[in-house]
Amino acid sequence: MSQKAQIGVTGLAVMGRNLARNFARHGHTVALHNRSYGRTKELVEEFGHEGTFLPAETAEQFVASLERPRRVVIMVKAGPATDAVIDEFAPLLEEGDMLIDAGNAHYADTRRREAALKAKGLHFVGAGVSGGEEGALHGPSIMPGGPKESYDALGPLLEDIAAKVDGEPCCVHVGPDGAGHFVKMVHNGIEYADMQLIAEAYDLLRQVGGLSPQEIAGVFGEWNAGRLGSYLIEITAEVLKQVDASSGKPFVDIVADQAEQKGTGRWTVQAALDLGVPVSGIAESVFARALSGGADVRKAAADAGLPGPSAGSEHVGGDLRADVEQALFASKIVAYAQGFQQIQAASKEYGWAIDPGAMAKIWRAGCIIRAKFLDFIKQAYDKNPELATLLVDDYFLDAVSGAQDAWRRVVVTAAQQGIPAPGFSSALAYYDGLRAKRLPAALIQGQRDFFGAHTYRRVDKEGSFHTLWATDDRPEVDA
Ligand code: 6PG
Repeated sequence: MSQKAQIGVTGLAVMGRNLARNFARHGHTVALHNRSYGRTKELVEEFGHEGTFLPAETAEQFVASLERPRRVVIMVKAGPATDAVIDEFAPLLEEGDMLIDAGNAHYADTRRREAALKAKGLHFVGAGVSGGEEGALHGPSIMPGGPKESYDALGPLLEDIAAKVDGEPCCVHVGPDGAGHFVKMVHNGIEYADMQLIAEAYDLLRQVGGLSPQEIAGVFGEWNAGRLGSYLIEITAEVLKQVDASSGKPFVDIVADQAEQKGTGRWTVQAALDLGVPVSGIAESVFARALSGGADVRKAAADAGLPGPSAGSEHVGGDLRADVEQALFASKIVAYAQGFQQIQAASKEYGWAIDPGAMAKIWRAGCIIRAKFLDFIKQAYDKNPELATLLVDDYFLDAVSGAQDAWRRVVVTAAQQGIPAPGFSSALAYYDGLRAKRLPAALIQGQRDFFGAHTYRRVDKEGSFHTLWATDDRPEVDA
């Protein structure tokens, strides 16, 4: 009998190629398939020495070379290409075989695909994979959803290639159907928020503190050794150190200041709106990218000379660097608290039973938002899986209480000097909103009742009420 592969990868652009190499480097025989055979051949020519690959020219050969249950990793551009690959392979597979979509698919698509394939007796696993090209090769964080039974046959392979923390793999069965892709989407939303907050910290240190990009790289380097230690802080220092070879200027000064996006941050906010979860930090980061990219509007504002503050003031009351570090840490806590709340809300809505502590655990290495403080998030949810918000856990409560004066000073300085800091200021507003004893939402209820008879609840009795606003004595009636 000819040799069979434990796993196959179809779609051999850089992410698929690196995942395939990662499986092979861990001693698994890997079947390879790509729309054009040229890529498959190249992979084997270049990296064949790394392990055992079984290249296939056709989908039929590929499927025939896999041991049962067949495990087929699809690594193509999310969207119609994924459906096309599923349509190509599903008819060739047999009951119990599994298709694993490792792309950045929308979780609703994953739910649809999982249901359709289940009806055919096939397992569909939507797996979030984070860590970019390097992660795919050396150890990503993997967030597989889909049926629990499929994890029994698939999990050990994924755990082999995943990043490890103290020998523990950054991979766990997240939950049924779209749970894995949902969690990966929120991971990306948090990634957007983290990046925006870091960018605001840089901007304040540069514009208010007068530091150069090189000096700020030094500050980020120091912060990386402390509680802010994370991959994104580390690479920010690298980006800031970079000098453009052709102009001799700091790299950050020669890049067009228009941030792009492929859409996962936007999806996170859209999903949060449907779930009614305020992910204001993530939303601000998506909107900040959109604002930066709105060249026409920015030009109109510049042409009209929209005025800034008449006189800039210094940062008062504290040391700017130390204060910005505090503001960054506190705002980051808010962003993660919001993201985790969204995961918990979706888990309830879809019956996914996601363990939030396990998500923090598998994000500790391999992924883009890997950070020291994920250990504390894990501990917080291990202590109380039903935690209403991370902000009330002892560690985070302490951190935010310790940061809040500095955080407020930073937001004041930004506002007074006309420097946009939507991430810092919206995080602070969220924090203040959560801790407020009374919110002006009561007034909004009054307005709604006035113009639309939408009714309101009272603080002192049960029931639903409506005031007859049009009459002189404004009587109240049970609604
Ligand atoms: C990851 C990244 C990855 C991708 C981002 C980029 O976890 O490895 O999140 O999925 O690099 O989605 O997103 P934007 O192009 O939207 O910034």
